[in-house]
Formats: sequence, structure tokens, C-alpha cells
Amino acid sequence: MTQGLLLVGASGLAREVLAAGITGVTGILDDDVTLHDTEVAGVPVVGPLALAPRRAEQLLVCVGPSATRRAIVRRFAKFGVDDERYARFVARSARIGASSDLAPGSILLDSVVVTADARLGRHVVAMPNCTVTHDDVLEDFVTLAAGVALGGGVRVCEAAYIGMNAAVRQGLTVGAEATIGMGAVVVSNVPNHQTWAGVPARELGESA
Ligand SMILES: CC(C)(COP(=O)(O)OP(=O)(O)OC[C@H]1O[C@@H](n2cnc3c(N)ncnc32)[C@H](O)[C@@H]1OP(=O)(O)O)[C@@H](O)C(=O)NCCC(=O)NCCS
Repeated sequence: MTQGLLLVGASGLAREVLAAGITGVTGILDDDVTLHDTEVAGVPVVGPLALAPRRAEQLLVCVGPSATRRAIVRRFAKFGVDDERYARFVARSARIGASSDLAPGSILLDSVVVTADARLGRHVVAMPNCTVTHDDVLEDFVTLAAGVALGGGVRVCEAAYIGMNAAVRQGLTVGAEATIGMGAVVVSNVPNHQTWAGVPARELGESA
């Protein structure tokens, strides 16, 4: 059994995780050498990401953009870092229904609510006040910014990013690596890789 926890990325997300009351953090890894031997929110930045495979602690990748988080996890995997090494963090005020589950590496910040039969994949991040409802599926590396609301049976595909206070109608799919703008109201399926915004949401750059 590994002891302690290293956060990966001396980021705003890392500070949010610390502010949300995570325990057992012994250090932070970051490739910015100017941060080494400094402290972030009272936690020492102990060295570069390359240390991760050689250390014994569990890891939590605290990097906001979905694609960057995925790139780090893939880089670690080449050095034998597997799912067993990753912690999960669910803030005390967040709630996950008993019939829902959360894979390793995922982070639910304050007041996130996950209701029934939802499946949250690896390294998913849900920022404060998100609502994930029945039968939703969040694939690996999905990011939900603060206040996102998903109707029932929504699928958010790998590494998609949904901006603050966006809402997605029940039963829809948001494609892999898609970006949804803050405040969007998504009323139709969003294809992979596209950026949609507005009310109702449309592909950005397309005329309404
Ligand atoms: C949608 C988004 C990704 C677009 O970013 P971008 O590609 O840099 O786009 P720009 O800011 O250059 O804006 C392009 C156009 O889209 C419009 N636009 C940008 N964001 C929009 C949004 N959320 N809703 C509606 N229109 C939006 C702009 O007004 C601009 O319109 P114009 O061409 O008529 O002037 C971004 O604005 C966004 O909403 N990101 C999510 C932010 C967020 O939730 N952050 C959380 C941090 S924790």
C-alpha cells in the first residue's frame, strides 16, 4: 500500500483541491524549475514530473485542460504508472449516489452532485456545483467547469471540455475532444473535436 499523495501540476486546480480539504498530500510535482523548492498553499513543490514513476506515493493529476491531463497520464504510462497509482478525490460536500461510480484519477470539487447509475471515467474533473444525473457517462479525461448541468443519459466522450454553467439536454452526446462554451445550452449532439457555444448551442464560427 502506497503512503501519501503527490499532486501533479502546481496549478489553480491543485490549489482548489487543497482548498477543498484533501488530506495526505506530501508534495507537488511540476516541470517549472522556478517553482522547485517553493511552496504552493503550504505544500512543497518537490521536483519535475519525471520523478513520478520513481516515487512511492499515489498521484492525482491536477491539470485543468483535458488534453494536457491525458498527455501527462500517457507519458507516465510509458514508465509503468498504472491506474493503481492514482487516487480519487471527492470533496466532502460533493455527493455521489451509491449506484454511480468514479474511476481512478478523478476529482469532484465542492458541491458536485452525481445522482443514480452514472459512470465517471479515469481522470475526470468536475469543478464546483456540477450536476451529473442518472445514467450519464463521462468518459476518461472529461472536464466539467463550474456549474455544468447534464440531463439524464448524456454521454460526454473522451477529453471533451464543457465550460462554466453550460447545460446539456438529456440523452445527447458530446463528442470526443469537443469544447462547449460557458453558458451554452446544448440541444443537439455535438460532433467530435468541434467547439460549440450559445443558446441554443451551435458550432462556433457557423452562422446561426
Ligand atoms: C467557447 C470558447 C472556448 C471560445 O473561445 P475562443 O475560441 O478563444 O473564442 P473567442 O473568445 O475568440 O470568441 C469567438 C467568438 O465566439 C463568441 N463566444 C466566445 N465564447 C462564447 C460563449 N461562451 N457563448 C457565446 N459566444 C461566445 C465571441 O463573442 C466571439 O464572437 P464574434 O466572433 O462574433 O466576436 C470560450 O469562450 C469559452 O466559453 N470557454 C470556456 C471558459 C470556461 O468555462 N472556463 C472555466 C475555467 S475554470
